[in-house]
Amino acid sequence: MALAFSPDSQKRAEEILARYPAEHKKAAVVPLLHLAQKEWGYISPDAMSCVADLIEESPVKVAEIATFYPMFNKEPVGRHLINVCHTLPCALAGCSDIVTHISGKLGIGVGDTTEDGRFTLKKIECLAACDRGPVMLVNRELHTHLTPEKIDTIIEGLE
Ligand code: FES
Repeated sequence: MALAFSPDSQKRAEEILARYPAEHKKAAVVPLLHLAQKEWGYISPDAMSCVADLIEESPVKVAEIATFYPMFNKEPVGRHLINVCHTLPCALAGCSDIVTHISGKLGIGVGDTTEDGRFTLKKIECLAACDRGPVMLVNRELHTHLTPEKIDTIIEGLE
């Protein structure tokens, strides 16, 4: 059976589609992929097909777009997704030490998820806060001027 949005998300999808002229509904692909990720936590091939159906596009085209943007998870992730910026300014500010600290604290490597499914650790490109590095995004919240102590507080504050 094909994957389908929940009634609430389907309503939201229709609101998103209504913002675009019918002949340009393909332009809704990115907001619909965000909605899909919110609904299912990641963009599976079935989720891509669901979005493709809504915009009358081929699933392959939607897959190309989902793959292009690093913010779309193509695999399941933990309840809390930790993305540490590793672009040059944050590298110079010590992001490697930050990754090492998180990795040691959670007992996982980059790209891994804790066994209890709570945390996934990833590296990400610039988060546009280069003057406040090292920087990480936890779920949708940006954290700047990271130190090991600050990270401990942030992680311990997550359920
Ligand atoms: S380099 Fe890390 S936020 Fe820009």
